[in-house]
Amino acid sequence: MGSSCFSRGNKKLVKVIQDYLKEHKLEDEVILKGTHCMGHCDKGPVMQIDEEKIFHITDTNLIDILSNKLLNEDVK
Ligand code: FES
Repeated sequence: MGSSCFSRGNKKLVKVIQDYLKEHKLEDEVILKGTHCMGHCDKGPVMQIDEEKIFHITDTNLIDILSNKLLNEDVK
C-alpha cells in the first residue's frame, strides 16, 4: 500500500483479491494484509505470497497469479 503502488491501482487490485478469496472460499486460509512500500516501486504494484515477491501486478494478470499461487493451477 505504498504510494507508488497505490497510484498504480492497488486499491482496485485489493478488491480483486478480496473477491477472489471469497469466491474460492479461501478467506479462512489466507491472511490478506497491506504493507508499506516494499522498496521495488519501479516494479510495482508489488504483492508478496509467503516469501515470494511478485512484481508488475495488473488487473489482467492478477487472477492467473492467484490461481497459480493459491490453487496451484497452471496459468493460461
Ligand atoms: S510503493 Fe510499492 S514497492 Fe514502493
